[in-house]
Amino acid sequence: MKKRKILCVLAMTTLLLTACGNAESQETSTQAESVTMEDTSEEVETDTTETVGENTGSNILVAYFSYGENADLPEGVDASSSASIQTWNNEITGNTGVIAHMIGDASGADMFSIQTVAKYPSDYNGTINQGEEEKDENVRPELASHIENIEQYDTIFLGFPTWWYDMPMAMYSFLDEYDLSGKTIIMFCTSGGSGFLDAVEQTQAAEPEATVIEGLSIGASSATGAEEQVTAWLQEIGY
Ligand SMILES: Cc1cc2nc3c(=O)[nH]c(=O)nc-3n(C[C@H](O)[C@H](O)[C@H](O)COP(=O)(O)O)c2cc1C
Repeated sequence: MKKRKILCVLAMTTLLLTACGNAESQETSTQAESVTMEDTSEEVETDTTETVGENTGSNILVAYFSYGENADLPEGVDASSSASIQTWNNEITGNTGVIAHMIGDASGADMFSIQTVAKYPSDYNGTINQGEEEKDENVRPELASHIENIEQYDTIFLGFPTWWYDMPMAMYSFLDEYDLSGKTIIMFCTSGGSGFLDAVEQTQAAEPEATVIEGLSIGASSATGAEEQVTAWLQEIGY
């Protein structure tokens, strides 16, 4: 266990040192409509438990957690200041958010950003420490964003960054909140190398009546250049 912990710290330190310079905006999303915080930021600021959601008629949802959309970042933060801060259509996101948007663009899915009420520190090391504490204490962070029309979706692409050999605890808050029985959950993740580990099993345990599938695992430093890989994978699985 100690060895794994050392390896993890090394992986994360490497990520910090190799902060991506390729964090430019990606293509404009034409297909995917957004049910994220984008259009509702005002409501979220005044009422952090406001339901968000926009019914576009799609039966596919991409739900994801990403550090860049959950951090208390200073105004006008430089996307290349951290290996985990990226942009998509000039909006701040993270590695998982970039992959999520690639999936959304290719599949015409609705988008949902899983966000916590309490933001994570803008200091990445602080987030690493907080993530460890939350895992050790098995906390369920309160979520700021909610899906009103979950029954509309048959397929949910569920994305997360690996945090301390697990999913961020906010993913468990998400799984606690919704009954996803009967739905197909296709998981994807980004990480410094750990990949899914037992995230699929954990998700299946939380949603026993759902079909949970292990999908795509992408390395943190490959996220921004993964579009071809993502679209090829989606084609392969019929999306
Ligand atoms: C709290 C925390 C814990 C992490 N733990 C791991 C880990 O156990 N294994 C790993 O390979 N990467 C780990 N990472 C690196 C992230 O998984 C990786 O940078 C990911 O691409 C971040 O995605 P995001 O930008 O969407 O948040 C960790 C990062 C953070 C912030």
